[in-house]
Amino acid sequence: MVIAPSILSANFSRLAEDCRRVAGTADWLHVDVMDNHFVPNLTIGLPVVVDLLAAVDTDVDCHLMIEDPDRWAPAYAEAGAASVTFHHEAVRDGHALARDLHAHGARAAVAIKPATAVADIVPLLSSVDMVLVMTVEPGFGGQPFMPECLDKVKALRQMSRERGLQIAIQVDGGVSAHTIEQCADAGADVFVAGSAVYGTDDPATAVLQLREMAQAASDAAWWQETNTDREPA
Ligand code: DX5
Ligand code: ZN
Repeated sequence: MVIAPSILSANFSRLAEDCRRVAGTADWLHVDVMDNHFVPNLTIGLPVVVDLLAAVDTDVDCHLMIEDPDRWAPAYAEAGAASVTFHHEAVRDGHALARDLHAHGARAAVAIKPATAVADIVPLLSSVDMVLVMTVEPGFGGQPFMPECLDKVKALRQMSRERGLQIAIQVDGGVSAHTIEQCADAGADVFVAGSAVYGTDDPATAVLQLREMAQAASDAAWWQETNTDREPA
């Protein structure tokens, strides 16, 4: 169970300080890199990530919403990101890129937008450590959760159980106290939350509350070995 606050909803003029507000409660910091081409928004790039890595102790999870990740992603791993996520819709050779990221000591993950099917990334499952199922259109924080995306989370969890895969399943977009239980019940075990954490007065407490809800829902979920009597909802 991983809770990863997205710093997209933090205050960019005091990024390190906002990151430290969740140190000790957050498992990872989710850093959204956008290039204004793959998505219609521009955030931060490698130089800021490098400085952030030097300023915080929490593992950094880089979500690259950029074109040509084959070319740009390895540098984030080389800089020390604990995980680097590229989009299936943008990558040319996901297997080669995942190998490259691993060679630099990072976990490799593939992300899919709401319109992309799980079937499209099945061949990549043997190469990556995590799949990110977007639960909003990538590009902006604070958008409403798309519950229809959870069928993909269920399908991935089912597949990972059947094939004994060791992949984490991450959800990103609209994850909050209202939606995190559905995500955990469907099969997610890594939860990104931006506005639900940094939109509150007390981000650390928000993380703890989200974790408690996700843990309880996950303990009772159909996909846990201990709950074999339950079938996918
Ligand atoms: C959106 C980003 C998300 C974003 C989520 O494209 O990938 O990580 O920060 O923000 P919330 O949790 O507010 O939907
Ligand atoms: Zn993200």
